[in-house]
Amino acid sequence: MSDAAPEPRANMGLPLKRMDARRKVTGEARYAADLPVGNLAYGVLVTSRIARGRIKSFDLGEAHAVPGLLDIFTYENASGLKAQRLGNAATSVMPLNSPQIWYDGQIIALVVANTLEAAEEAAFKLRVDYDAENPSATFDSPGVEVIPALGNTDRHKEDPKVGDAEAAFAAAPVKIDAVYTTPTEHHNAIELFSTTCAWTNDELTVNDPSQFVYGWKNGVARELGIDPAKVRVVAPYVGGAFGSKGPLTPRTAIVALAAKKLNRPIRCVATRDQGFTTVTYRAETRHHIRMGADPTGKILAFLQESEELTSRPDNYVVGGTDTTARMYGYGSVLTKVNLVKADRGTPAYMRSPPEFPYMYALESAMDELAVALKMDPIEFRRKNDTKTEPIKGRPYTSRSLVECYGEAARAFGWEKRDPNIGAMRDGDWLVGWGCATACYPTHTGAATARIRLTSDGLVRIQTAAHDVGTGAYTVIGQMASERLGVPFEKVTAELGDSALPPAPVAGGSNTTASVCSTVLKGCNEIRGKLFAAVASAKGPLAGRGPGDLDLRDGKVVGSDGAAVPFADAFKALGSSVIEEYVEFFPEGGSPDDVRKLYAGQLALRGGSAGEKMMYAFGAELVEVRINARTREIRVPRIVGAFAAGRIMNTRTARSQLMGGMIWGISSALHEKTDVDLHTARYVNRDIAEYHVPVNADIRELTVILVPETDNEVNPAGVKGLGELGNVGTAAAVQSAVYHATGKRIRSIPIRIDDLIGA
Ligand code: MOS
Repeated sequence: MSDAAPEPRANMGLPLKRMDARRKVTGEARYAADLPVGNLAYGVLVTSRIARGRIKSFDLGEAHAVPGLLDIFTYENASGLKAQRLGNAATSVMPLNSPQIWYDGQIIALVVANTLEAAEEAAFKLRVDYDAENPSATFDSPGVEVIPALGNTDRHKEDPKVGDAEAAFAAAPVKIDAVYTTPTEHHNAIELFSTTCAWTNDELTVNDPSQFVYGWKNGVARELGIDPAKVRVVAPYVGGAFGSKGPLTPRTAIVALAAKKLNRPIRCVATRDQGFTTVTYRAETRHHIRMGADPTGKILAFLQESEELTSRPDNYVVGGTDTTARMYGYGSVLTKVNLVKADRGTPAYMRSPPEFPYMYALESAMDELAVALKMDPIEFRRKNDTKTEPIKGRPYTSRSLVECYGEAARAFGWEKRDPNIGAMRDGDWLVGWGCATACYPTHTGAATARIRLTSDGLVRIQTAAHDVGTGAYTVIGQMASERLGVPFEKVTAELGDSALPPAPVAGGSNTTASVCSTVLKGCNEIRGKLFAAVASAKGPLAGRGPGDLDLRDGKVVGSDGAAVPFADAFKALGSSVIEEYVEFFPEGGSPDDVRKLYAGQLALRGGSAGEKMMYAFGAELVEVRINARTREIRVPRIVGAFAAGRIMNTRTARSQLMGGMIWGISSALHEKTDVDLHTARYVNRDIAEYHVPVNADIRELTVILVPETDNEVNPAGVKGLGELGNVGTAAAVQSAVYHATGKRIRSIPIRIDDLIGA
């Protein structure tokens, strides 16, 4: 065991190495744009240089003269793809259907040539004349439209509230009132966004890094107006996802349409800067929070009024008040979410879409109120912890927040914290310690799988789930290895292909919960068949009931140690293989969820939607050091303790949480896409100027896995933790900066210039 492979504690699986580790480090794992395809043509996207208006005309003469050019697809010759509803796709705009421009960087043409160089040259020579209008860029820009989320999107079902929060706030003896903002952020996964489309007669194969091959299969078919049975989407490896490859974007069907028209396979790799405008991003948010408490630190009122940016055509919302309104035992709650519509692309998912920005605001406010109360910020959270949510009084299935704070505080040495501002100064360094709560809803969805066990003890699992770098191959294999009593090395898993039985989107941190529950169910069916076979045959286990039997080390074993090797058990069964196709749906669901899954529609359950609250929790404690002379901000150490039900594999779990915390530090100190207010254009559209942390930015990072057993969330008992780690981090850093300097920086990222004069 090591830091990277923590010793399993109660209800945790072994830190087995990733099934795909060797494939990845040797380059054997082929990503979508690596796959060899014969007779390939190359596509290059051309995107709009205005944010609002219309295309007046194209001048394609020079572009068409480039040797090797095959064709140029624009709204003039390639319209007719069917636009989708937001939700079924990342946007309701199908850009080649009209000359209308909704935002800067919108796709306006696909140039296809025999070589990438020719396509790039022709794209460069394509001329566009626009009728441009003045765009609205962001919050407070002239011309934005502000509408309530409630009633304008079915994704925001309520503005949670309880009691008379205004009156309680007015009467509260201790209170704070502040505005917090989070910026535009873009994914910048290492793997670029690519699409390769190849037709064989009327059948289409799409290689595209995707978090949801069934969603894309069905979506592309709808956009093209063809039978989904004719479309196959393949994505066995995905190089960075976290929402950026979740919803279907228009480029896939555009490339498919062009490939059909040219009768050639086409590969199109969006450039790094096109990744800022042709796929999903996190929109800026702004939160007005008022909170009041009694002198003992009991919260009396919590009011959060939030704004999120969205596009003109689509009312996208993340609506994190769903979570924040229920986080603590507040006496009264008032929340509201408004959408601000501007001339921007439709935002979409990015790691912890609602929880990241909304919890940043709440946890920052919690720190401010703790300071106002002269109370330790961890003690303040303990004081207001609750086992039932305050809006409707529903219980959490499990909630180990206080335990997480306890373990994190011990590991961090929190008791040595001097609460006075700047009191922990160390020479030239101003030292601050801060903390915040992490949380993420537990989602479980319907899933299916085919599981095969052979008489020689080999297991194969097939399911169209996705390993987006998270360890899905490994934990899915691990569940089968445990239940079928075969060594992990004997298990293979095939994922990421719509030719396999469907599984949900690799989103909402549901994959481990959903698919491990499915594999568990399928393995139990296989066990039942083997148990029945040995019980009904002659031999040492004849007549035994299933409760007395187990599978271990390639044998059926009885509680007294009597055993029948698989070879004999299969002989008794009269077959050399058992293959189970299994369908699973979570409690509260129905077989209809499976039918919808086949059609590429999602029905994730859990979180705050049901009769009980299902959430994972964590506590993050950070130290920041700010150089007194240069204001350089460092995070020398961070400790996170997390409880997320059953941990399938402590290595992959730690890795996810570590990545989340690094992303959290990144959001606190580095990441921001700047929007030019005049042109509504992203300014820093590359990874030179879009800042992310490098190794030198991350020092001591400790992940503690806190034991927790929750048998209610799903049969696997798994809460999921892919998105848990980056929630709260930014608030913890912000609080630590305050503790070090006395300066409250309520807009992230916090940068050196914010601290000049501090
Ligand atoms: Mo995640 S943003 O649900 O891929």
